[in-house]
Amino acid sequence: MGRTRAGLTWADVTPEAVYLNRRQMMTGVLALGAGGIAGPTLAASGFSTDEAVNSFEDVTTYNNFYEFGTGKDDPARYADALTTDPWSIEIDGLVDRPGTYGLEDIVAGMDVEERIYRLRCVEGWSMVVPWEGFELNALLNRVGVQPSAKYVAFETLLRPSEMRGQQYGVLEWPYREGLRLDEAMHPLTILATGLYGKPLPNQNGAPIRLVVPWKYGFKSIKSITKITLTEDQPATSWNMVLPREYGFFSNVNPEVDHPRWSQATERRIGGGLFAKRQDTLMFNGYAEEVASLYGGMDLVKNF
Ligand code: MTE
Repeated sequence: MGRTRAGLTWADVTPEAVYLNRRQMMTGVLALGAGGIAGPTLAASGFSTDEAVNSFEDVTTYNNFYEFGTGKDDPARYADALTTDPWSIEIDGLVDRPGTYGLEDIVAGMDVEERIYRLRCVEGWSMVVPWEGFELNALLNRVGVQPSAKYVAFETLLRPSEMRGQQYGVLEWPYREGLRLDEAMHPLTILATGLYGKPLPNQNGAPIRLVVPWKYGFKSIKSITKITLTEDQPATSWNMVLPREYGFFSNVNPEVDHPRWSQATERRIGGGLFAKRQDTLMFNGYAEEVASLYGGMDLVKNF
């Protein structure tokens, strides 16, 4: 691919412009496929939003990655210290084929595709990120989930020599997260290995991180080194430190406020100083896909 439709070479345009252009091209192709009828803008994947994506700069300079500090610009400043190659993930617990798998072996044979997802942080800001990744269910199926497994636990790398924030006890390291097995198997749940058509920048969780778009961003654990299938609900980092404020489920829900702030609205990053806050959507706008996972559950109790 040398030229975009606008006749520019890749080198002439910013990643953002390339990105938007590629999406326009795909929209064109899809519209023709449907008989040339002009309809709503179609995105590349059935699961992708057609909302405007945030710039590469927004996505890579405004981050939460406490292993590198608590400031929004700390990850961009300090995450380069992390060695991401070689990388392996230990997969254990209730699986047929436990082991330590090299990243290249994990990714080989996976359908890596683009997924443009909304990301809603529990702090009240949001972005739209063009990820590349594959469905977590593909990896879980490869290692063979045993019938007694009910949850999936994840851990981030523990390496204080390269992750300067791990020298401070803000959280109990390593960072831990978890999903119910049906959430983990849902096709929206991906392991991302890239964004904007490039390998994942370190500040975004290189070389591989979870993305669960209907849950608050802290569930989307970065730089994963361990995945464990369990029968019992695993301990998760934010729930461990502030259980009254951060539940296990942490589904985006505009009707359940955080004890210290409202979750009804959000600030879209990149909108400028005077941009109006926008309404937060149930399950971050993915209700049609995931609401059935929580049928009959009290979402106030199970926050
Ligand atoms: N994963 C680890 N290991 N450590 C973290 O501090 N922060 C979480 C999540 N994953 C975090 C993490 C939070 S609060 C959010 S909002 C998202 O990562 C932010 O992802 P981004 O920086 O790629 O936007």
